[in-house]
Formats: sequence, C-alpha cells, structure tokens
Amino acid sequence: MQTLRLRGSLPLTRLLRYGWVGLLVLLLAACHQDMYNQPRIQAYEPSSFFADGRGSRPSVPGAVAVNGVQTDEYLYTGFVEGELGDVMPFPVTDELLLRGQQQYNIYCAVCHGEAGYGQSMVAQRGGIVPANFHQQRLRDAPIGHFFNIITNGVYRGDPENGGYQSMYSYASRVEAEDRWAIAAYIRALQLSQNAEEADVPADQRATLGQP
Ligand code: HEC
Repeated sequence: MQTLRLRGSLPLTRLLRYGWVGLLVLLLAACHQDMYNQPRIQAYEPSSFFADGRGSRPSVPGAVAVNGVQTDEYLYTGFVEGELGDVMPFPVTDELLLRGQQQYNIYCAVCHGEAGYGQSMVAQRGGIVPANFHQQRLRDAPIGHFFNIITNGVYRGDPENGGYQSMYSYASRVEAEDRWAIAAYIRALQLSQNAEEADVPADQRATLGQP
C-alpha cells in the first residue's frame, strides 16, 4: 500500500496532521474574552457611582507623585527666601555645559536662536518676539531668573484679566537638573558674546588672537 504516505514531507500532509493543534490554540486564546471585557470606566467617562458624576477621581490631597518629592527649595524654584539666587545648586562641569547645550538646542533654539539673539525661523514667521539673551537686563539677571523662567514660562499680565502667557513653561518636559544646565549654558552663551580681555585668566592671555 503506497497511496497514503503520512510520513512524507509534503506540506499539505503536515497541515492535515497538525492543523487541529492550531485550531485548539485559537479556541483557547478566545477564552480570555470573559475577563477582558469587564465593566470598567475609561478616562474622563461619566459615572453615576460617584456623587459628582465623574469617573476619573481627583488625586487625594497631599498625594505626591512617584519621584515627585521636592525637598530642596532652591533646586526646584531658583529662589532662596523669596529672592532669586545667583549660584548654581551643584557644580558646573564641562559635561553639564554640554548637556545644557544639547537641551537648549532641543527646546529653546527654535525660538531664541542657537546663539541666543532671539533670531530664528519662529521669530521671523511666528509673529512673536523671543527675548535676546544679550541685552543688558538679562546679562545682569541672576542665574535663578533663567531657571525660574524655564520652570514657569513668561506671562504678560494676568491671564484671568486679559493678559496672556508669552512663553510656555518647560517644567513638565525638562527635569530640574536639566533646567539648571540650560541656565548655565545661557550664561556661557552670554559670556561668549560679551567677554573682555580681563575675563581671560592671566596665564592664558598671551594665547589670545593666535590660531
Ligand atoms: C515658542 C517659542 C519659545 C521657545 C521654544 C522658548 N521661548 Fe523663551 N521666550 C519666548 C518669548 C516669545 C519670550 C518673550 C516673552 C515676553 O517678553 O513676553 C521669551 C522670553 C524668554 C526669556 C526672557 C525672560 C525675561 O526676563 O524677559 C528667557 C530667559 C527665555 N525666554 C528662556 C527660554 C529658554 C531657556 C527656553 C528653552 C527651555 C525657551 N525660552 C524656549 C519664546 C520662546
């Protein structure tokens, strides 16, 4: 008898032999539907269960997000006892400035320009006037001012009374440490455009002007 060769390697024969296994897997996989389709509330869906009719619940007063404990006031606000501080909360290293440069170029340069003059495509075409960091007021501003601006943005008047926010807050997108790194980099940008011979350490002045 040679008509039925089940041991052969023909794909069709294999399919007939093992097809039932695949069918079983499909049937078993469908079993999770019962648990999967439980009654539940989607984000922002109304609910008659709660008195205020809202399905999404407000967070419990005093709740702190994971990694959200902010015990170091200066690190997170730029203020010391109500005054903007003029020191970095941690040491400035080459690495930190490079990080600041990278973050600045990602988040700020689109509007303020890579050199910080407030000249950019957005400024040209967007109908807004991003600040020029090389103006005297900002050269004199303490470093905490830059941290505070990045953290809270800039307001022109009170938004409740016809005012508006002219620059967005970056607190939700840039970590506090990186906001300081950007502030330090802006200081470096300011120095790069406004340094005097006296700012160069005495032992390096002789190298000025040399290629
Ligand atoms: C979408 C465009 C835009 C981006 C992006 C942007 N800014 Fe601004 N920024 C502005 C505008 C517009 C102003 C001027 C606001 C005003 O004068 O009302 C401003 C003002 C400022 C000022 C001056 C505040 C003062 O004392 O007058 C600083 C400092 C500043 N921005 C820093 C930053 C930094 C740092 C970033 C990146 C984290 C950034 N900005 C990203 C638009 C932008």
